[in-house]
Amino acid sequence: MLECRDLTAGYGKVQILNGIDLSVPRGGLSAILGSNGTGKSTVLKTLVGLLKPTGGTITLDGERIDGLPAHEMAARGLAFVAQGKEVMAELSVRENLIIGAYHRRRDRTGIATDLDAVFDRFPRLKQRRRAAAGLLSGGERQMLSLGRALMARPRMLMLDEPSAALAPRVVGEIAGILRGLREEGLTMLLVEQNVSLALALAEEVHILREGRFAISRANGPELDAAELQKFYLGVEA
Ligand SMILES: Nc1ncnc2c1ncn2[C@@H]1O[C@H](COP(=O)(O)OP(=O)(O)O)[C@@H](O)[C@H]1O
Ligand SMILES: [Mg+2]
Repeated sequence: MLECRDLTAGYGKVQILNGIDLSVPRGGLSAILGSNGTGKSTVLKTLVGLLKPTGGTITLDGERIDGLPAHEMAARGLAFVAQGKEVMAELSVRENLIIGAYHRRRDRTGIATDLDAVFDRFPRLKQRRRAAAGLLSGGERQMLSLGRALMARPRMLMLDEPSAALAPRVVGEIAGILRGLREEGLTMLLVEQNVSLALALAEEVHILREGRFAISRANGPELDAAELQKFYLGVEA
C-alpha cells in the first residue's frame, strides 16, 4: 500500500534518514523500533508530508506522493497521531474530534455517524465530550488524538509512540483499541519504544539504526523483546 525507496531527509544540513526502504502492506500493523534520537519520528513526519524528503520516493497505492504538503497527504488518506498527545486545549473533546474531519467538513451526516463510532470505541471520551481537552488525563488525551485521526476516515494511520508516559492499565487499553482497528482491516504504521507492545501487535517489524532499517522482517516467535532491546537498540531490558 505504502512504499518508500531510498528516502533521505533531515533538518537543515543535518541528514537524519540515510536511505529508508519500506513496504507497508494493506491491512495489518507494521512497527518501527529504534533507540531514542535515531529518527523514528523523522520517518513518520516525512511520510505524512510535515518534512520534505531530500531524496527518494514515496508511493501510496502506486501514486507518487513524495514532496506533497501535509494537507495533500491527509486528503489522500494518511492520518498521523503525533508524539506527545497534542490536542487543542481550549476546545472541547467533541470539537477536537470534529476538527479531525475538517477535509470533509460538508459531510454533516457522515461526521455525526463517525462521532458516534468514536464515542462507542472510547466510552471515556463520550463521558467527557463537553470537557475542555486541556483538562483530560494523559491517557484520555492519547485517546482523543487517536479518535481525531479516525475522524478523518484514514486509509492508513501512523502513530508515534502512543504508549509513552502512560500507566500500564492505559497502555493495555490503547493496545486493545489498536488490536480492534487491526482486526477491522485498518493499515497502521506504529513507532514504539515499548518493544513488547510493538511485538504483541505488529505483523512486520523494522529496526531503525543509523538512518536506515537494519532489519525489516515479519514478526514471529523467534523475535524476543529483551534480545531486540539489547542487541539492536543498545538498551538493557
Ligand atoms: N525539528 C528539528 N530540528 C533539528 N533537529 C531535529 C528536529 N527534530 C529532531 N531532530 C534531531 O533529529 C534526530 C532524530 O530525531 P527523532 O526523529 O525525533 O528521533 P526519535 O523519534 O527516534 O527519538 C535527533 O538527533 C534529533 O535531535
Ligand atoms: Mg520520536
